[in-house]
Amino acid sequence: MRIFLDTANISEIRQGIKLGVVTGVTTNPSLVAKEGLTDYKAVVKQICSIVLGSVSAEVVVNETEAMIKQAREIAAWAPNVVVKIPSTNQGLEVISVLAKDNIKVNMTLCFTFNQALLGALAGAFYVSPFVGRLDDIGNDGIVLVKDIVDAYKKYDLKTEVLAASIRHPEHCAAAAKAGAHIATVPYQVLMQMMQHPLTDIGVARFLADWERALR
Ligand code: G3P
Repeated sequence: MRIFLDTANISEIRQGIKLGVVTGVTTNPSLVAKEGLTDYKAVVKQICSIVLGSVSAEVVVNETEAMIKQAREIAAWAPNVVVKIPSTNQGLEVISVLAKDNIKVNMTLCFTFNQALLGALAGAFYVSPFVGRLDDIGNDGIVLVKDIVDAYKKYDLKTEVLAASIRHPEHCAAAAKAGAHIATVPYQVLMQMMQHPLTDIGVARFLADWERALR
């Protein structure tokens, strides 16, 4: 499973890349607003220039023709941009139009198996089940990830499953075990994934023993 960062924060992206494990980025209007950034196009283009892999950027209109127009504009911002389209009936039509023109789409805000199935049939490049938001309403987001992965394998659908709305390290581990192709994680979760108190205690003990006995 690959790891993407779910952020619009440039220093977090640079740091994630330095660690050698982040290969892509996902953003959304909420994440851009959180950083206090106002020039959406400039932010996405800057992220695309830093990241080698794909950068998902969301359309910010709702109507079919407007989405198609805006998606085409966003797709022209950089060669590695992937356009995020919501899992709606209008979105489905948009995805099938864009897929025919080889524009890569990340179908976002996916909460059901049927949405994921239709998104893949329409030609989405990624489908993003929102794990944390499903857990929030008492569903099991990871079960959805696994169901989608299994169905795509069974029917030989090439769409990749991008586990999103990842809230903690255990979500990420579970997404990997469920067979997700990618998990997009907030920077803080990425940091937590490598942490364990016994590792810290072990390092401190080795260093103390080195100072006491061996140096
Ligand atoms: O990747 C989608 C993500 O940004 C949503 O996360 O925590 O707002 O559900 P969250």
